[in-house]
Amino acid sequence: MPRPYHSPLTEQDQPMPSYSNRVSTFGTTIFTEINVLAQKHGAINLGQGRPDFDGPNEVIEASIAAMRSGKHNQYAPGSGTASLKKAVADHAARFYDLDVNPESGVVITSGATEGIFSSMLGLVDAGDEVIVIEPYFDSYVPNIIMANATPVFVPLRPPDWTFDRAELRAAFGPKTRAIILNTPQNPTGRVFTYDEMKFIGDLCIEFDVVCISDEVYEHLVFGDARHIPMASIPGMFERTVTIGSLGKSFSFTGWKLGWVSGHPDLIAGVGRAHQFVTFASHHPSQEAAAVALSLPGTYFEEFQEMYTTKRKLMLDGLSAAGLKPFSPEGTYFIMADFADVFDGDALEFTQHLVTEIGVACIPPAPFFAPEHQHLARTQARFSFCKADDTLKQAGERLAKLSR
Ligand SMILES: Cc1ncc(COP(=O)(O)O)c(C=O)c1O
Repeated sequence: MPRPYHSPLTEQDQPMPSYSNRVSTFGTTIFTEINVLAQKHGAINLGQGRPDFDGPNEVIEASIAAMRSGKHNQYAPGSGTASLKKAVADHAARFYDLDVNPESGVVITSGATEGIFSSMLGLVDAGDEVIVIEPYFDSYVPNIIMANATPVFVPLRPPDWTFDRAELRAAFGPKTRAIILNTPQNPTGRVFTYDEMKFIGDLCIEFDVVCISDEVYEHLVFGDARHIPMASIPGMFERTVTIGSLGKSFSFTGWKLGWVSGHPDLIAGVGRAHQFVTFASHHPSQEAAAVALSLPGTYFEEFQEMYTTKRKLMLDGLSAAGLKPFSPEGTYFIMADFADVFDGDALEFTQHLVTEIGVACIPPAPFFAPEHQHLARTQARFSFCKADDTLKQAGERLAKLSR
């Protein structure tokens, strides 16, 4: 139950003002909780998607040069620097053949997180419904609630983490304004196929719905999987805003820089919200991000190769320990079923793993609405954006599980 709101216009004996009803259901994020627990027990932290290595040196150098030049230490233009907006548009043309307008089709944000929030505020009205595919990145639902809209949940189900087409169709209705989609998908590692994307896109067109497409792991796909941007599905460019992140594609999560791109009519709404959420994002990082997005194809190929090795190390470690991991088609996360080696739910497993085995992971319940949490009762998420040695060491520790 939401707590009652206490007016700040208090008389002396009234309770002190406290937080709003709007945030009363928001707890501490699971990532913060697990980080604290992992630190306390000296566990190898495979919880949060936080690389333990730096991104490309030339991008760091570009950021330092931007700061030293004395030209980029004051507010950037609200929607982003011209050079970065052009780099975002060029990147969309280079990789996906998309025609993004560099002036009116891009907003630079303080991380993808802000991009998603500004999209929600700028595109969704109070009382609208927003479809959320579960398991979902944890900011989506609080963002929908802060926009005074209502989430409508459609789960992906293990072991192959696909959605039921009839169930998804049934979620669309006259009140649906938007769907928030994530591909490659955190935490499952799914990369939606062309067929799946087309199915979702066709529903958006039929029901006149906007797609907020979180594609922050666009450059992390494995094997035969291909990233299909929602904006590239016929008829969907006009109804999609696409979210990208410097943190994910270039391993600078601490810089918190992201971008939203799409049709100018939708981007205008995102920009209107953005100007009163943060106004402008970190200026020197924008200079560096323009360099990052313009790196040659070899950077992106080597990035995928590096993660292909890490993915194998993690999959091998989990399988050898007796877990059943889903081989991720993308992202740097693996969902693994632990039912064969542990008798309990995901929270109990996580606690056991941190305290007895020395490895931290994430229990996926917070990524589901309460009515669907049972689907991942025996699943845990492991991130493999760590040094190879760290992943090998984690594998050795995990082996204790099967003994
Ligand atoms: C699916 C997804 N979207 C958005 C974000 C947030 O990205 P940023 O750090 O750029 O805000 C994350 C970070 O983990 C993520 O996994």
